[in-house]
Amino acid sequence: MKFFIDTANLDEIREAHDLGVLDGVTTNPSLMAKEGISGEANIKAHYKAICNIVEDKVSAEVIATDYEGMVREGKELAKLDDKIVVKIPMIRDGVKAIHYFHSEGIRTNCTLIFSSGQALLAAKAGASYVSPFIGRLDDIAIDGLELIGQIVHIYQNYGYETEVLAASVRHTMHLIKCAELGADVVTCPLKVITGLLKHPLTDSGLAQFLADHAKAASK
Ligand code: G3P
Repeated sequence: MKFFIDTANLDEIREAHDLGVLDGVTTNPSLMAKEGISGEANIKAHYKAICNIVEDKVSAEVIATDYEGMVREGKELAKLDDKIVVKIPMIRDGVKAIHYFHSEGIRTNCTLIFSSGQALLAAKAGASYVSPFIGRLDDIAIDGLELIGQIVHIYQNYGYETEVLAASVRHTMHLIKCAELGADVVTCPLKVITGLLKHPLTDSGLAQFLADHAKAASK
């Protein structure tokens, strides 16, 4: 399973990378705005800085919502670095744009996926990744994890190569359940990844080992 970090914050990306478990990064316009990044040149420079930190893919989202605009922006983004994956929303023109990029050999991540039908459509169009937002489904009392299982099952039925990239992952149990369900990738905040470290028996076990060692050394 691949771990992507869902942020545009360079310090957090470096910290996750230094841990040695980070594969890639996903961003969206809200996350870029949170870091105060605006203007075409600054946005491009920021994506480039992210690409210079990580080894695997970096999702960069288009702002346009019409086919021509998405194609124009997506081409510009893809030119920045081989690691860039063009993130396209699940709308009618988005599906067309995904099909176009697929024919041009440019990777896409179809975002804002909330149903298995949308995920099927994105795979048919040739998306490299789909991003089902599980936390936002949970927020409205629909089981987000159930959707992950459905999409994994549908893609297995037909051998689609589109990767299931679980997004809007809010806590560590989301991540673990996504792994059990066979999601290819999770994208989440850093604290969800570091949350995997924690177990009270690890802490008490280590304290005991160190105390026993100190006792033996003082004899
Ligand atoms: O990758 C999508 C993600 O950023 C959405 O997460 O927590 O805003 O629903 P959230």
